Amino acid sequence: MTGKAKLEQLFATPFFSVQLAEVHSLNQALVRDVLELSSTTPSTVQSNVGGWQSSKSLQDSPVQSFAELIAIINDAVMQFFSIATDGKILASPKQIRLWANVNRAGDFNGPHYHAGAVLSGVYYPEGGQSDAGPADVGTLILKDPSRSSVIASALPLPDPLRSIFPHQIVIEPAASLLVLFPSWLEHWVAPHTSGKPRISLAFDVIY
Ligand SMILES: [Fe+2]
Repeated sequence: MTGKAKLEQLFATPFFSVQLAEVHSLNQALVRDVLELSSTTPSTVQSNVGGWQSSKSLQDSPVQSFAELIAIINDAVMQFFSIATDGKILASPKQIRLWANVNRAGDFNGPHYHAGAVLSGVYYPEGGQSDAGPADVGTLILKDPSRSSVIASALPLPDPLRSIFPHQIVIEPAASLLVLFPSWLEHWVAPHTSGKPRISLAFDVIY
């Protein structure tokens, strides 16, 4: 074959992650503040099956740790857009809507997406693992939005080729991990089985 070849990712789904450094005190404060809030206010019912979920209004809370996290999320969003647009300058989001989740053994979040936002994400102040290992941490699962994996799964493909078309991506919660993805991307949280609560802070980015 002669000629100039190129491979492009068409309709790719952007996924941004950052493992924050020097946030140990913030993580401790978030765990403390979320657990306190969950013990004093009733849960809302959104995607959670069991578990506790705050109202989607922590951006209006006077709690310092929530305000610090929103500033960090704002920075992450700006970095995401800078990388995604090759350095174009964008205004900060109009609002970052923040809420907290506490899943205990048996709790999970069913498949859903976030309408009304452009980007959504989650921050983990701690990993949630017990001694049983990573299988019980309530993984975040992102579903392939295309039909490629459905069609590929019906074909007798060799493994290396099949691996190009995964039907889902599994994110294991880890302390100080922040992830961002398009709000339309369907996702869910696998059942949590650890005796240690799984604490996460989820958010929507509004422009
Ligand atoms: Fe979600």
